[in-house]
Amino acid sequence: MRAVDVIQKKRDGKELSTQEINEWIQQYCEGDIPDYQMSAWTMAVYFNGMTAREVADLTLAMANSGDQVDLSAINGVKVDKHSTGGVGDKTSLILAPLVAASGVPVAKMSGRGLGHTGGTVDKLESITGFHTERTQQQFVDQVNTIGVSIIGQSGDLAPADKQLYALRDVTATVESIPLISSSIMSKKIAAGADAIVLDVKTGNGAFMKTLEESIQLAKTMVSIGTEVGRDTAAVISDMDQPLGFAIGNALEVEEAIVTLQGNGPADLTELCITLAAHMVVLGQRANSYDEARVIVEDSLRSGKALQKLQELVEAQGGDGSIVHDLGKLPQASMQYDVMSKHSGYVSAIGAEQLGIAAMKLGAGRATKDESIDHAVGIVLRKKVGDAVQQGEVLATLYVNKEVDEQSEPVIMVHSAYGIKEQQPQVRPLLMAIVTKDGVTTL
Ligand code: URA
Repeated sequence: MRAVDVIQKKRDGKELSTQEINEWIQQYCEGDIPDYQMSAWTMAVYFNGMTAREVADLTLAMANSGDQVDLSAINGVKVDKHSTGGVGDKTSLILAPLVAASGVPVAKMSGRGLGHTGGTVDKLESITGFHTERTQQQFVDQVNTIGVSIIGQSGDLAPADKQLYALRDVTATVESIPLISSSIMSKKIAAGADAIVLDVKTGNGAFMKTLEESIQLAKTMVSIGTEVGRDTAAVISDMDQPLGFAIGNALEVEEAIVTLQGNGPADLTELCITLAAHMVVLGQRANSYDEARVIVEDSLRSGKALQKLQELVEAQGGDGSIVHDLGKLPQASMQYDVMSKHSGYVSAIGAEQLGIAAMKLGAGRATKDESIDHAVGIVLRKKVGDAVQQGEVLATLYVNKEVDEQSEPVIMVHSAYGIKEQQPQVRPLLMAIVTKDGVTTL
């Protein structure tokens, strides 16, 4: 295979064979294809797309480029969940116990946060004593005993994607549906789940800004999953503002616990119930979405899901009584209210800006090796559509160092909030469901 021929074929809109794609990825990983040729190829894919077969082949080639997690020692159908990104997205903390309490085993590997997005592992480590490092045997045993475990990602999953994603980031080729789909699905497939539920975000804070593009992305990922024998469904949800109210590690754990207690924000609760119900269907614990939803709502209402979180925390070394005593979570020493400079209605909230503001307070890390402060973050007091008076609180910063109106995070929170005279039309949270049987717009 000559690299230039593969690039030319893609440039001219022709279909690559399975063998060409496999060799292309393998040689890239081995360093035989340089970044400049891969860059030309990703740009050709950006403009010309790929067929469903090509995308499935690319996904498998990347999944096969590193370690593959074997979850076969865990009983039952293992269903994983993936979100295409978000700020204040604490769904995994809620879904894992909720789905486990509904009878589907959850063996989840999660990552740490980087930049403006948070990571589940960092959030869980706000609970004193909670360990996310476990051996494969401990991980398997815990899921077989209590139905759930969340650990930090170990091993080298889909290294081809890691290399390719870094290149796409600097060659303006991130926003390509075949490349995003294969990137996400290669990691999920390597992580070993039998079935996958995807939370695809749409809107200002997401890769895909329009519903049409988001549906196309979801359809591509569902088709990859189906093609490689992993039942896959996608829920498309709005990302024009952060989910729930809390941004920051311990603050998000607190909101997750409040949600499992049945008193969570409406948007977060609804999204979690919907995603959990789809996971219960793919986990073969219910024959239909409606049946699954009844099971999931019962797990939430009865307190079974909260009890499952307590078991999870205790099994991984933390103090389980935290689920009834939120005061045991790390607390910031000061609070600072960011007040609105105008009266009107909240028309938009820039999720990414708030994520960066929280990072600058210490809740996140700009580079991989930085340490974080679990207690700090932001709690929104107003969401899109809310009326606001000049001088009313838009958001509260939880801080461990003094801030004032000149501090960068405060300036960023002010600029993240759009305030308009007219009350805006609030978009529904849930916009569409995509399964192998088709698309349902909501
Ligand atoms: N997330 C990923 O893992 N890959 C992409 O390409 C985009 C988002």
